[in-house]
Amino acid sequence: MPKFYLTTPIYYASGAPHFGHAFTTLYADVIARYKKQRGDDVFLTAGMDEHGAKIAEKAKAVGKSPQEFVDGLAEEYKTLWKKLGVQNDDFIRTTSEKHKKGVYAFLERLWQKGDIYKGEYAGLYCVGCEKFLTEKDLVDGVCPDHLRKPELVKEENYFFNLKKYLPLVKEKIVSGELEIFPESRRNETLSIIESGADDFSISREKVEWGIPFPYDSKQTIYVWGEALTSYVSVLDFPDGEKYKKYWPADLHLIGVDINKFHTIFWPAMLMSAELLLPKKIFVHGLFTVNGQKMSKTLGNVVDPNDLINRFGADAARYIILSQFSALEHGDVKADEFDIKYNADLANGFGNLFERVFSMYLKYRSGDNKNMENKNIDAEVERLINEAKNNYQSHMDNIQIFEALRVVLLFAKHLDKYINEKSPWDLYKTKGQGAELDEVLDSLMAGVEKIINWLLPFMPEKMEKADDFFKKVIAKQQQPEDKLGLFPRVI
Ligand code: MSP
Repeated sequence: MPKFYLTTPIYYASGAPHFGHAFTTLYADVIARYKKQRGDDVFLTAGMDEHGAKIAEKAKAVGKSPQEFVDGLAEEYKTLWKKLGVQNDDFIRTTSEKHKKGVYAFLERLWQKGDIYKGEYAGLYCVGCEKFLTEKDLVDGVCPDHLRKPELVKEENYFFNLKKYLPLVKEKIVSGELEIFPESRRNETLSIIESGADDFSISREKVEWGIPFPYDSKQTIYVWGEALTSYVSVLDFPDGEKYKKYWPADLHLIGVDINKFHTIFWPAMLMSAELLLPKKIFVHGLFTVNGQKMSKTLGNVVDPNDLINRFGADAARYIILSQFSALEHGDVKADEFDIKYNADLANGFGNLFERVFSMYLKYRSGDNKNMENKNIDAEVERLINEAKNNYQSHMDNIQIFEALRVVLLFAKHLDKYINEKSPWDLYKTKGQGAELDEVLDSLMAGVEKIINWLLPFMPEKMEKADDFFKKVIAKQQQPEDKLGLFPRVI
C-alpha cells in the first residue's frame, strides 16, 4: 500500500479559525480522502503555531497567560475540524514536548553542520506578520496588512546560512525533484532565488514566548525557525516509527503568503539537516471576500461555524471549496452562499438524485435487477468516461475546484438527458420495457458515479445517498420516499 503524507499549515494561535484556515484544511482533507479511496496509506496532519510576539501580545490583551490563551484556541480549531469532518491523523502543537524534542534534534543537525552563526540584525519588524519587512513593503510607513508601523528592531540573532543552499534549492526545483504547483508559484520561487534571498534569523533576542534557543540562553527560537519543523516533529522525529514510515511529505498544502518559507527556507533547512525533501508543494491563491481583503475591521470575516449552522457540515465543506480555483487568487461571494447552496446542491445534485430514484422506483421493470447486467446508453457511457477522466486528472493534480466543476457539469448533462428522453412519456406511450429500462439504468449509473466522485467532498451526505441508492436498486424504497439530501434554504 503506497504511503501518502500530507500536511496543512499550522495556523497561528492568535485568533479564531476563519474561512481561509478552513479552506486549506478542507482542501487537504478532500485530497486525503481521495487518496484513501484509491487505497493509499494516508497520514494527514493539522496543528497550531503557538509561539511568538504576536501571540504573547494577544494573550496579554485579554488578561491570559500565553499558554492559557493558546490552549483555548487549540481547542477551538480542533473542535472545528471535527465538526467539519476533517480526518487529521494528528494535531501538532508547537508548545508540546513532542514538538520541542523534534525541534532540538533538528536544530542540532544544522548547528553541527556549521550552518548557524551569530550576527546582528537591524530591521523593520511587523509583529502582525511575524516577519521583517523592507521599506518597499510599507504603504505610507505602515504594514499594509496590519495597518501598523513596524518596529525598528536591532538585536543579536543567530542566522541560518540560507545563501549556501540557494543554488542547491534551485537545482532541486529545476530538476523537478522538488515539485512546486502551480507553475506560476514555482516561477515566483525561482525569481526570489534569482534575486538573492538573505540569510534568515533562526533565533530572537527579545521574544520571551518561544522555545529556548539551546546554544544561547538569552535567545528563543524564531517562530519560523521551529514552525516548519512541525512537519517532522509530528511524526516523532528523529527516531519515531511514523517518521521512518511517512517522511518525506508527499504533499505540503499552503497558501501563497507562506510560499517563500516553504519552497526556499524549508528545503534549505532540510538539506542542511540531511533529510529528504518533500516531493510536492501545492501553493494555493488567496481570496478576498466580496472583493475586499478579509479583515476584522471591515467586519467581513467569514466564520466557518456560521456556515455549518446554516447549511450543515457537508454543505459547508462544499461551499468553502467551490468558491474559487486554488490556481489563482479568488473572491469569496459571501453574499451568495444561499444562492450557491440552492443552485448546486438543492436544485442541482439533490434534485437530480431525487428525480432519478423516484423514476427508477416508479418505471423500472423487473425486481432486484442488479446493476451488473444493465444496458447503458452509449451517449451516457461516453459522458461518464469523459467526466471520469477529467475528474481524476484534476484530483491527481490537486485541482479540486476544477474537479467539482466537472461533476457539476456531468450532473447537468444527466438533467438534460432526462428531459430529452422524458421517461414519463416513454412510460405513458410504451409502458415498461427494455427502452425505458436502459434510460433508467443509464441514469442510475451516472448517479452512482456522482456519489463516488463527491464522496471525498461531502462524505456524510454521499454515504447517505449511497445507502439510499442501494435500497432503490433492491426496490426496498417506495417511489414517494424522499432522500431529502439538501433541503432548500430560503
Ligand atoms: N503559522 C504560519 C504557518 C506555519 S506552517 C509551518 C501561518 N499561519 S496563519 O494562521 O497565518 O495561516 C496562513 C494560512 O492560512 C495560509 O497559508 C492559508 O493556508 C490560510 N489562509 C489564511 N487567509 C487566507 C486567505 N485570505 N485566502 C486563502 N487562504 C488563507 O502563516
